[in-house]
Amino acid sequence: MLSICAARAALLLCVGVGVALGKDNLRVAYEWREMDFKYESDDARWTAIESGAFKPANVIPFGIELHRQRLFVTLPRWRHGVPATLGYLDLNDTSSKMPVLQPYPSWVAHNLAETEPELVSPFRVRADRCGRLWVLDSRIAGVLEQTKIYGSAQLLVYDLHNDDLLRRYAIPASQSKTSSFFANLAVEDADCEHSYAYVADLGAPGLVVYSWHEQTSWRVSHHFFHPDPVAGNFSINDIEFQWDDGLYGLALSKPAADGFATLYFHPLSSTMEFSVNTAVLRNQSLASSSDIYREFKVLGSRGNDMQAGAQFLDTDSDVLFYSLPNQNSIGCWRTQLDYKLQDRVQMSDTELIFPSDVKIDAAHNLWVLSNQLQSFIYDELYPGSINFRILKGSVASAIEQTMCNVPKPLPKFIDTLHKTLNNTLDKVTQLTQAPSSASSLALSLAALSLSCLVWLQA
Ligand SMILES: *[C@@H]1O[C@H](CO)[C@@H](O)[C@H](O)[C@H]1NC(C)=O
Ligand SMILES: *[C@@H]1O[C@H](CO)[C@@H](O)[C@H](O)[C@H]1NC(C)=O
Ligand SMILES: *[C@@H]1O[C@H](CO)[C@@H](O)[C@H](O)[C@H]1NC(C)=O
Ligand SMILES: *[C@@H]1O[C@H](CO)[C@@H](O)[C@H](O)[C@H]1NC(C)=O
Repeated sequence: MLSICAARAALLLCVGVGVALGKDNLRVAYEWREMDFKYESDDARWTAIESGAFKPANVIPFGIELHRQRLFVTLPRWRHGVPATLGYLDLNDTSSKMPVLQPYPSWVAHNLAETEPELVSPFRVRADRCGRLWVLDSRIAGVLEQTKIYGSAQLLVYDLHNDDLLRRYAIPASQSKTSSFFANLAVEDADCEHSYAYVADLGAPGLVVYSWHEQTSWRVSHHFFHPDPVAGNFSINDIEFQWDDGLYGLALSKPAADGFATLYFHPLSSTMEFSVNTAVLRNQSLASSSDIYREFKVLGSRGNDMQAGAQFLDTDSDVLFYSLPNQNSIGCWRTQLDYKLQDRVQMSDTELIFPSDVKIDAAHNLWVLSNQLQSFIYDELYPGSINFRILKGSVASAIEQTMCNVPKPLPKFIDTLHKTLNNTLDKVTQLTQAPSSASSLALSLAALSLSCLVWLQA
């Protein structure tokens, strides 16, 4: 009986070893104690620090995006002293793991002394497949000190070929409410001329749909955009707090044959995931009517303490990746499967404290930004330790041996061996005493373990 148990254990081990090898494949690509900028000169930098225009302790990276050789980073103006609220680093420059940021598109675009500043405080940006950078600017500065509203939230769209501002669209007052806060966006770009931006309002739960072609927008309301009153508890690295944020994480699937995609979404203070077809959202008369109620789908719950933040979908594998701030981790879900079948791709109590953004580049690499937001808001960040990290890994390696992976078919000889061993085990189990079978069993077991290792190495 002991040998049988050992054989069954070896079978499990063969699979188990694979699981242990498969997860946590993202590696730190960049890390910072404090963020810094590329000034014209050292003098200019010191002048900015002395005048308070640049207060390093108040600068926190929040959103990321990748386009060719540039990695864009948003730096919302939660407090004063953020000299540029959007910048980028050059992926070609491998001289430092702590690169300084170049303001985007220029220093002057970030100047709050201008009558109408170009950029006030964006949280997320999205580079579409048409070479445009969509910047969602909340236009609210100093939310953690004296709040100053510069105007209603706006979408700025830049041409990534020359960094010219192509369009500036302010969300009309009729689609905004006093408690509105626009922090997240998704861009449906299958057709460059008929692209749509989906803009999430977390403060006054709602979704604003913007049509690039029509240059207009409309607001969609739904109960699924609201926070769940019993899912507002957060506990991150010993800091406990309550948040009641509505619609937050948005991710688009690739378009179906009819040209429409699925928008996956969730409020921040919620453990639920929902979806809706963009055909519903893009039909202005339909989207603004109450008839759409049943067009929205409940996918399911992630479970206790599984509130999710930013999310993004890989169009190659159809896997959705999302940050789990309460877990210091990144989750995944293969969208063809039942929502119960989620898994974790990475978890780290040092490197993933407050995973703030998740993106996938054109080469199907997964990028994650962690920023210790809970300490920045409720405590303070220590300038001597690493506070911000950007992790990177291929989607293929990230989902290896998770439920989000396409199961790798077993090589035929292992399959045959497995069946043979299984039969042997069954026969042995049926016998009360079988001393001779035990030795042949040990042989099969050794062979199986060997092929198991060979297979894992491959
Ligand atoms: C980065 O390198 C690629 C090829 O190695 C080059 O085509 C590109 O111009 C470089 N980008 C920058 C921003 O230097
Ligand atoms: C949320 O946290 C508070 C304070 O720790 C606790 O009293 C309460 O039971 C928690 N609520 C839920 C729904 O978990
Ligand atoms: C929008 O929805 C309405 C109501 O369901 C429908 O009658 C109309 O044909 C739709 N428009 C388009 C362009 O699909
Ligand atoms: C192993 O044997 C059990 C019991 O006879 C059977 O249910 C199972 O399908 C077999 N597994 C394989 C991989 O052959």
